Amino acid sequence: MNYEVVLPAAGSGKRMGAGQNKLFLSLGGKPILIRTLEVFQNDDNCTGIWLAVKAEERDYIQHLLEEYGITKVKGLPNGGEERQHSVYACIKEMEQVDIVLVHDAARPFITKPIISRLVTEAYEKGAVIAGVKAKDTMKKVNNGVIVETVDRESLWMIQTPQAFRFELLKRAEEEAEAIGFLGTDEAMLVERLNHQVYIVESTYENVKITTKEDLVFGEAILRHRNE
Ligand code: C5P
Repeated sequence: MNYEVVLPAAGSGKRMGAGQNKLFLSLGGKPILIRTLEVFQNDDNCTGIWLAVKAEERDYIQHLLEEYGITKVKGLPNGGEERQHSVYACIKEMEQVDIVLVHDAARPFITKPIISRLVTEAYEKGAVIAGVKAKDTMKKVNNGVIVETVDRESLWMIQTPQAFRFELLKRAEEEAEAIGFLGTDEAMLVERLNHQVYIVESTYENVKITTKEDLVFGEAILRHRNE
């Protein structure tokens, strides 16, 4: 089933401390951004890629797209102050499609089977997101003191992709923008509309490359996949 994907790529990567957009760092000899793009470039069901970029990085990114043969990019709007604004910049430029996926450009290990499940279920249910079950004991902490041990059974760590019927996400983004509501993911904006959001179990490999250690995990995942 077909879909288009929005990839926010306009972050500053401060927590990586690399002095440049972390998405340009090499993972197994290729920029992280390219590894993520290649998953969608190579998925026949993906009919278009929208990339939110920093204005000053657009030329370099276009050069990378050519170098690595990424041909599905339909638009590269300027990203915004927050990730949500970057996603909205893409949604505003898109024409009507059935299903839109939002995926962090910093998660290069996403796989086609998970994408396919999300897209299929989004057609039926409207809003479906990827996540994994919490592995550690979870506690609420206030000022360094444990307040409560939370029942782990019902806790999930949420990732991207997040898949939506296009109309639903567009409305959620527009309403959030109108009232200045800022969510930490797209699902929160849809939850605000009292629309049910469903979960698909993903894998722990689908890490977001955020800090230096994530690059070490990332290299290990690549080695493991190539064995
Ligand atoms: O910083 P973090 O890794 O959580 O950001 C997740 C994704 O959102 C990254 O791919 C990053 O480039 C993107 N982003 C964005 N615009 C922002 C902040 C983050 O496109 N203002």
